[in-house]
Amino acid sequence: MTGTRSYLDHASLSPLRPEGLQAMTAALGDLGGDPGRQHTEGMQARVAVEVAREQVAALVGARSREVVFTASASEAIAAVCWGVAARGGTQVLSAVEHSAVRTAATRTGDAIVVGVDGLGRIDIEQLAAKIDDTTAVVHVQWSNHEVGTTQPIDEVVELCRSRKVLVHVDAAQGVGHDPIDFAGSGVDLLSLSGPKFGGPMGTGALVVRRGLRLAPLLVGGDQERARRAGLENVPACVALGAVAEHLAQPGVLAHERATALAQTTRLTEELCAIPGVIALGDRARRAPHLVLPAPQNRSSPRRCSKPWGSTLHIHCDCPWAGRRPTRTSPGRSRRFPWSWRNSARYGVDGPGATVEVVVAGVDDVDCARAAVNAGRRSWLTSPRMGAFAGSGSASISAR
Ligand SMILES: Cc1ncc(COP(=O)(O)O)c(C=O)c1O
Repeated sequence: MTGTRSYLDHASLSPLRPEGLQAMTAALGDLGGDPGRQHTEGMQARVAVEVAREQVAALVGARSREVVFTASASEAIAAVCWGVAARGGTQVLSAVEHSAVRTAATRTGDAIVVGVDGLGRIDIEQLAAKIDDTTAVVHVQWSNHEVGTTQPIDEVVELCRSRKVLVHVDAAQGVGHDPIDFAGSGVDLLSLSGPKFGGPMGTGALVVRRGLRLAPLLVGGDQERARRAGLENVPACVALGAVAEHLAQPGVLAHERATALAQTTRLTEELCAIPGVIALGDRARRAPHLVLPAPQNRSSPRRCSKPWGSTLHIHCDCPWAGRRPTRTSPGRSRRFPWSWRNSARYGVDGPGATVEVVVAGVDDVDCARAAVNAGRRSWLTSPRMGAFAGSGSASISAR
């Protein structure tokens, strides 16, 4: 591959924004106290954490007391699953949820999967049929992390409200990319991930609607108003707050969103002009930073090692690339070797520029099956809740 490398994997991690770096550097030097202590150092740290909480709350339209800092979206999601499980009842989730939701929901009790259509949108009729008196929560993501499809949250909320069922939205691919109004949404629980929108690694938050009590996942100290034990990561919270504040300024999010949409639309158009390449997911309602170009009828990673069309070619920079699979991980189909995990890199030489599309997770059974099913109105319910999805993800940032 020639030309300048462009980092396009913002769906996994978006590099720390300057506002976050600056705030974190200052906090590392200045804020050395335990925010739970009543001495000067502690009080300074407490004030900084509470300011950060307000900033994050403002970004998602929540009250600051509704925000619980966590170390990741996965932790926030696990807190929801374990907390809901402690209250009893089943958990319903869409077939395209991130593994953080799928795994936590299945480990904590009975989980019922609702299918999606060929674009990855939750099937509302099926959801209505699957909710019953035993349902405690419905998990639905804001946008899919692979194909970018944005879910009809309003319709899910409307349905759940009438049945008195909690709604948890995994907004890891929504916060910082789309405007979110937690207060007006009717959503009960919302999880987010800092590094997905330029916040520091190791940050996340769970937004819990006022009055809703969940048993904490992490127990011990009474940090975060006894909702998450453990000394707060003050510099990380402060940096997350600074990034949130930046994005919440008038016009900033809207501008970034429009830029990202324009970029991803162009990328999709150019890639789909290559014979054999299609875009998966809902092109009309999607995360602005996510596109998923995929080879048509691809059924196994090995087939992908052949170049498609004249310009799309593989650029593999992992040692296993292109080799015959030698082992598989337990529980995975033998056709999809573990060693392909995140290993394939597809590059495309466009006019005047070279971009690289990172295709992640090609060993995932869900993803591989979905590639086979792409475009068809069908979904799979494998033991792993195999889902529609794609063969990986590519995303670009507005920055
Ligand atoms: C939709 C979605 N949910 C949850 C997660 C987990 O986020 P974290 O890495 O902060 O645990 C991700 C990460 O990619 C995601 O895309």
